Amino acid sequence: MSEIDDICREVWNATEFVAIVTNGPDGPHVVGTWGDYVRKLGLRDDMVVMPGGKYRQTEENLRGDARITLLIASRQVAGTNGPGQGCEISGRGEFVSEGPLVDEVKESFPWARGALVVHVGAVRTQL
Ligand SMILES: Cc1cc2nc3c(=O)[nH]c(=O)nc-3n(C[C@H](O)[C@H](O)[C@H](O)COP(=O)(O)O)c2cc1C
Repeated sequence: MSEIDDICREVWNATEFVAIVTNGPDGPHVVGTWGDYVRKLGLRDDMVVMPGGKYRQTEENLRGDARITLLIASRQVAGTNGPGQGCEISGRGEFVSEGPLVDEVKESFPWARGALVVHVGAVRTQL
């Protein structure tokens, strides 16, 4: 993922979970996935892939507003003023329900009904 620099790559390798925020009719909508899930699917060029078991509200939100933001963090990575760094990853999201990518996700996560995909536009550290 070219948008992700070395620091955020370190955070990516250490984060326990990923917070996922979309915009819904009632305001921000927050869901999550596990760090080891996304690491299993791997970082791709400017694309993050997450196993979609549910994410039904998230899917609906993305149909109305494709903007999506992820937050990852770890105390194991040094921040500017001490231990701990977090990275905000923002871009355009879509829920993909079929095709080769979904087949690949289902190989590792048979319970997935699809793939939540983020096309990364920007990455920035928070600490
Ligand atoms: C740490 C954590 C990991 C989660 N991992 C997943 C996941 O990989 N896939 C998934 O569909 N839901 C996962 N969930 C549940 C979602 O956050 C969410 O509650 C559920 O998918 C319903 O989404 P919706 O509100 O968009 O319909 C996770 C929740 C937490 C707190």
